[in-house]
Amino acid sequence: DWRAAVGDRHILLAGPRSFCAGVERAIETVERALERFGAPVYVRRQIVHNRYVVEDLERRGAVFVEEVDAVPEGSLLVLAAHGVAPAVRAEAAARRLRVVDATCPLVAKVHQEVRRYAARDDTVVLIGHAEHEEVVGTIGEAPGQVLVVSTPDEAATVDVPDPSRVAYAMQTTLAVEDAAETVAVLRRRFPGLKGPRTDDICYATSNRQAGVRRIARQSDLVVVLGSQNSSNSRRLAEVAEAAGAPAVLIDTASELPLKLLAGATTIGVTAGASAPPALVDDLVRCLSGLGSVTVTETGETTEDIRFVLPKEVNQP
Ligand code: F3S
Repeated sequence: DWRAAVGDRHILLAGPRSFCAGVERAIETVERALERFGAPVYVRRQIVHNRYVVEDLERRGAVFVEEVDAVPEGSLLVLAAHGVAPAVRAEAAARRLRVVDATCPLVAKVHQEVRRYAARDDTVVLIGHAEHEEVVGTIGEAPGQVLVVSTPDEAATVDVPDPSRVAYAMQTTLAVEDAAETVAVLRRRFPGLKGPRTDDICYATSNRQAGVRRIARQSDLVVVLGSQNSSNSRRLAEVAEAAGAPAVLIDTASELPLKLLAGATTIGVTAGASAPPALVDDLVRCLSGLGSVTVTETGETTEDIRFVLPKEVNQP
């Protein structure tokens, strides 16, 4: 019964939330490519893991494909923010595609680490989710030399050829605390373990997790705007739940199950790094249709990180 959802509410907006620098760069890359070269601009996979963003760019002339072989020879192809295996680049070159690479520089950095360890004959334990596109791309830097583990338990049993030659790297969008536990297990097992100076989780992921943790305790419900296939968005819902708030991950306000609002007077709101800020505004508008709302910004709202655009779309 929708009437149970009616009521006055307090909304706590988590800061920072929504777009990160890597996502902004990737979306702008497609927009500029459309302006400069005209439609169609082919994009391998979702440019960022957000349904709303993808549908919007599709309407403007972007054509999303699963694999390079679906792109007509000689066309323009944008590589998505999550990065690709070198084999994909080779395939694009073989089809004489003009490639514009929108891989987030922070993902590219992890690729580089893996290449460096692999060149020294280390086995690389990659902490991440094996089926995620970013991880698939990273593995591709050194196929056969990278082993994926996703939990401390898996780290406890992973079998390496030489325990004295092990390094680790990470998916950029992991839950900060879980990843630290996994590293601790690896460190106990492999005393010579090499790895990044801190970790590979990007600033946007860790800032958004800290932001949602801050509001979770005071919230009766935390709403995360983001798509189901967005790793960092899913982690935000998990972090909120671990901090004690029921959490729900939805693409748009219209998907919010009204029954969750019954009795919930303080609603925490955040958005994944791939989810547009407008989706948060929409949600606030919807909630204010059910009663009067007060909105409080919490945490930091600005992050001063910007990445330069790929050179093909960056010249005047
Ligand atoms: Fe890059 Fe992190 Fe965003 S890796 S795309 S800055 S979530």
